[in-house]
Amino acid sequence: MKKLQEIELKNKKVLLRVDFNIPMDKEGAIIDDTKMRAAFPTIEYILKQGGRLILMSHLGRPKGKPNPQYSLKNIAQHLEKLLQVKVVMAPDCIGAEVQKLAEDLQAGQVLVLENVRFHPEEEKNDREFSRHLASLGDIFINDAFGSAHRAHASTAGVAEFLPACAGFLMEKEVSMLRQALDNPDSPRMAILGGAKVADKLGLIENLSKKMDVIVIGGGMANTFLKAMGKEIGRSMLEADLIDRARQLLDQAGETNTQILLPVDVVVAGEISATAAGQVVSVDQVPADMMILDIGPETVKLFSEAIQKAKTIVWNGPLGVYEHDQFAQGTWQVARAVAQSPAVSIIGGGDSAAAVQNLGLEKDITHISTGGGATLEFLEGRILPGVAVCEE
Ligand code: 3PG
Repeated sequence: MKKLQEIELKNKKVLLRVDFNIPMDKEGAIIDDTKMRAAFPTIEYILKQGGRLILMSHLGRPKGKPNPQYSLKNIAQHLEKLLQVKVVMAPDCIGAEVQKLAEDLQAGQVLVLENVRFHPEEEKNDREFSRHLASLGDIFINDAFGSAHRAHASTAGVAEFLPACAGFLMEKEVSMLRQALDNPDSPRMAILGGAKVADKLGLIENLSKKMDVIVIGGGMANTFLKAMGKEIGRSMLEADLIDRARQLLDQAGETNTQILLPVDVVVAGEISATAAGQVVSVDQVPADMMILDIGPETVKLFSEAIQKAKTIVWNGPLGVYEHDQFAQGTWQVARAVAQSPAVSIIGGGDSAAAVQNLGLEKDITHISTGGGATLEFLEGRILPGVAVCEE
């Protein structure tokens, strides 16, 4: 991957793809700007080097049409406040007016393009659209790791027309996730949670070739427990994946990857804020109950494995994390990961939120800004937005 520091940026029009797809409320107020701030090292570096910075991003899924709800205007204003530099908001992301704004931009100034997904050509990775976007800049820098699994015009297509390079965030994400997969220090451990096995099949397959220990919790553990012959009551089950789960357990045995599943669980009759949880062994799940969290013995088992690990990668909550009484397992595991001296990498989404809610971010080596992108990377897939920075 070419390094940003190796590139002359002074007076250059730098077309920087960021992932400013951040949560906003109905009034357009920003709920969480973590992903924005993660791109600041790159943004500040480019401005300091005297680059003329043109930012492009998507926001939400506006289905190829302009929609004020998905405008980047509020994000541009927020950026101006945080950066303390003049930020100009473009009326669109291509066209004569935008071209003029880009041409007039001075060194150290910022232009934010309007949501690239207001054009259907963006998601189609249309060549002509990519060429129009590329014509705004002299160089393309991709710092949008969170969108790197999308082969879109602004994440990949533009690289056909401009020299491309990764930003600091992109570089850091890729190197941390590669380390998680390839760190020679053993034991390497993956903690996998979340609701569905179907979403994580590729992940489990790839990680069982790379990891020494895989811990499975969350709703997806139910299908594995069922595959082991356990009764799981009314718990969520992917019946069509029981055989696949059994195969994965067998395969892991062959490759000497240890798969750890819950030994006790928290069950309740319903999923609600008032439902009372009860701890039972996985051999005694009542027929009328649902498994909603891992139990204390499982926390102990998982924590012991965490203490021995040298590398930990974690994706997905271990229970119905939205309700406190079923979030204990996720919180305890978050604490164990934070206390561990291992290289710890958290793959976005709810597991990242758990760590952030507990104020444990500083004890984690890397919290990825990617959701789908991180998953696909850990599945061993080539991400188009990463590939264009490496070609
Ligand atoms: C994300 O939030 O995961 C990225 O910004 C990608 O968004 P998308 O799933 O709408 O492509």
